[in-house]
Amino acid sequence: MKQIAILGSNGQLGKTLKYLEVETNYVCKFYTRNELDITNKLSIETIFNKNSFDFCINCAAYTNVEEAEKDIESTFLVNALGVRNIAEVCKSKGITLIHISTDYVFDGTKRSPYKTSDITNPINEYGKSKLKGEQFIREVLTKYYIIRTSWLYSVYGKNFMKTIINKIADNTVLSITTEETGTPTSCFDLATFIFYLVRKNDIPYGIYNFSAKGSTTWFGFAHEIAKLYNPDKQKNIKKVETFKTLAKRPKYSVLDISNTEKVYKDLNKWEDSLSKTLELYRL
Ligand SMILES: NC(=O)c1ccc[n+]([C@@H]2O[C@H](COP(=O)([O-])OP(=O)(O)OC[C@H]3O[C@@H](n4cnc5c(N)ncnc54)[C@H](OP(=O)(O)O)[C@@H]3O)[C@@H](O)[C@H]2O)c1
Repeated sequence: MKQIAILGSNGQLGKTLKYLEVETNYVCKFYTRNELDITNKLSIETIFNKNSFDFCINCAAYTNVEEAEKDIESTFLVNALGVRNIAEVCKSKGITLIHISTDYVFDGTKRSPYKTSDITNPINEYGKSKLKGEQFIREVLTKYYIIRTSWLYSVYGKNFMKTIINKIADNTVLSITTEETGTPTSCFDLATFIFYLVRKNDIPYGIYNFSAKGSTTWFGFAHEIAKLYNPDKQKNIKKVETFKTLAKRPKYSVLDISNTEKVYKDLNKWEDSLSKTLELYRL
């Protein structure tokens, strides 16, 4: 039976993997930051020495894009050096690493979906640190999947979908930007793909783009959330062109998912995945 280490298990993707674990026949061991801090290589080695993992799924990351601008050192410590620690331990033990990266490795100046081969050029500290993490993996390992994904949401943790639901419940009027275009991606879909990679065990290693099909703006995403969850409150979602933030964000970060579609047939339209996640959220 395959054994899998899941790091950063208290985050929204980690929790979604935990939710889906029951449908697999793997031995999954979940580690929160308290149990395994990826910035401490010894702590990774100690746990990996006590187990015989075949795969490591890294969901651990410094994900606060705004804070990352002010706390560059911590961001790089986790997203770059922490990832190098994981890669080095995986290398020494022959473990396949499945790592999650981001659409924010791109600068957003393109106007057609980003291919995995497109030139990266992150424009914020979070994106720079995530790119460095990718580069370490590629230097150290051959047995890896780097999955670039975008605009993650789920029933767990803090995310855009839950923020919108909570705000409209309070009758807050929201001004949401139309300045950025990307693809909302459900953690449920991403976690399903991750377990698919493990199950197949013969998908070529490398970088994969994973998102739902289609694209929208943050305004379009918020509007659809309101439409599906609480249609009376759609009027509370107002369009604004720009929304001032500390971190620059790519204006366009739609991912070209054609390389993933060659190996995986179950990609959904973003609206359908959102509807499914909202159904789960209502339970
Ligand atoms: N969220 C998005 O929109 C998005 C978009 C594209 C890509 N991604 C990538 O997708 C992956 C999963 O993201 P997510 O949304 O699930 O993030 P999340 O909910 O913020 O979870 C990240 C988890 O990493 C943990 N962590 C932070 N530093 C750590 C350390 N030093 N050692 C061990 N664990 C640590 C956090 O611990 P605490 O719970 O203690 O804070 C948290 O549980 C990340 O790699 C992220 O960069 C996310």
